[in-house]
Amino acid sequence: MSASGRASKHQPLVYLNGAFMPLEDARIPVLDRGFIFGDGVYEVIPVYSRHPFRLGEHLQRLQHSLDGIRLSNPLSEARWQALITELIARNTGEDQYLYLHITRGVASRDHAFPPADTAPTVFMMSSLLLPANPALRAHGVSAICAQDNRWLHCDIKAISLLPNVLLRQLGVDAGAAETILLRDGYLTEGAASSIFIVKAGILLAPPQSQLMLPGITYDVVLELAAANDIPCHIAPVPESELRSADEIWLTSSTREVQAITQLDGQPVGNGAPGPTYKKMDQLYQDFKASTMRLPTP
Ligand code: PDD
Repeated sequence: MSASGRASKHQPLVYLNGAFMPLEDARIPVLDRGFIFGDGVYEVIPVYSRHPFRLGEHLQRLQHSLDGIRLSNPLSEARWQALITELIARNTGEDQYLYLHITRGVASRDHAFPPADTAPTVFMMSSLLLPANPALRAHGVSAICAQDNRWLHCDIKAISLLPNVLLRQLGVDAGAAETILLRDGYLTEGAASSIFIVKAGILLAPPQSQLMLPGITYDVVLELAAANDIPCHIAPVPESELRSADEIWLTSSTREVQAITQLDGQPVGNGAPGPTYKKMDQLYQDFKASTMRLPTP
């Protein structure tokens, strides 16, 4: 145990700037640029049977986000892998999700970048990843639509999530599980998820661009569709197609694939998870089981 001997089996151990410690002991100075400006990036990585899912892809996206904010990667890929392995081992739960967070460090408040030798802040924590509730899988969830009023670099997984937070809360206020975002009449993504639709048996998804996060689950779903003869078309999705879709799904690392069965109070298709969703949900679970349910390392 690097920092404190007090960590018990049931107390989450986090990593902060070179040491593992109980969550309650982790402190950052108030002048951290993450706190002052939201000047940083993050990742969320699911862990199944103590194996991180698509780790290489998550670390690649982290690099893309760091490049996007012009912050050097503080750790080598091998070091990230070693720390992630240690974080998983030091926390309870066969299934976890990891939160990685890097800011431009602590410096006097100035909008411009701090001196080049300012050490970035590196924080990681693990939480329990709970299996999807069976009722949710059987019935799906509801969503509302809202105008996507975020910035034009949504491909960067930035910690400055205030627009996403406000948009997500619109959904919560309406009793919905997600807010689906539309920009200039086209679907972008959810406030915290990627969105797919199914129309006449064809899976449709918006193409990757700076207007949406390159979802790791989005890629897995497209790979599974291609490998299992689910016809798929990547093209801009106008609002009218979203509203007349037979099925709508959301995907994310923590929610996997979920059917959206109500949109703005109207049923999607017949108001129940559709056949293509059921197929994809099973494919996703099978894929997870075959690649991840390995003996615990
Ligand atoms: N968010 N789009 C946005 C805006 C997101 O926040 C997320 C996930 C996704 C899906 O990406 P992925 O499949 O790689 O998880 C798309 C995470 C889970 C979060 O912020 O907690």
